[in-house]
Amino acid sequence: MPDNPQRRFEADLALDPRIDSPGREGLTGTTRADVYAPRRDPVDVTVAPDGRPMEEQPKWRRDFAIDWPEDHHVARRDFTKFLVLTSGAFAAGQGWIAVQSLVRKRRPAPERKRIASLAALTPGAVVAFDYPGEHDPCLLIRTREGELVAYSQKCTHLACAVVPRVDEGVLHCPCHEGYFDLATGRNIAGPPPRPLPAIELAIEGDDVYAVAVQLRST
Ligand code: FES
Repeated sequence: MPDNPQRRFEADLALDPRIDSPGREGLTGTTRADVYAPRRDPVDVTVAPDGRPMEEQPKWRRDFAIDWPEDHHVARRDFTKFLVLTSGAFAAGQGWIAVQSLVRKRRPAPERKRIASLAALTPGAVVAFDYPGEHDPCLLIRTREGELVAYSQKCTHLACAVVPRVDEGVLHCPCHEGYFDLATGRNIAGPPPRPLPAIELAIEGDDVYAVAVQLRST
């Protein structure tokens, strides 16, 4: 505002007193319309350190927020990035599962392994063996009815060793009181979620062989 009274008077004369002048619709008094123009809160205005408008700023400065309004754009951008990354991770996970299942299908069948002499397996007999690898404990059991069954000894809950109770017709897991049916290997009580993997057997003369592992989901 000019200090000189004459200049101030002239400046006042320049004010548009008309109520219907553009931008003053509905307002009273003689103040210029831009006095009433809504002002943006300074905190909402993006000002780069060098003072130039954002359109003239380098891309990196436009991409990375330096104040609050720009931060809204970054939040949207981050959300989009998050969606893209999580979708990508999900797709990669599915691909990994597919590859694993393909590899498992193409894996050669394990070699058969002699476990015991048939003549030595009287009803109630239990023979421990490892199959297909040396760290895969299994049990061969002759039930009271004379059937030969064999299962992985690792509980399908948390891999504790199951203990056969031939007289009761069950395999018991002492860790969390899980039970499996001796004749079928199915989980019948407690936390185990799946049946025990069954070991396929073959009998040749007096020899009992393990020939394959059957993974079962139900
Ligand atoms: S580990 Fe067998 S019931 Fe939990």
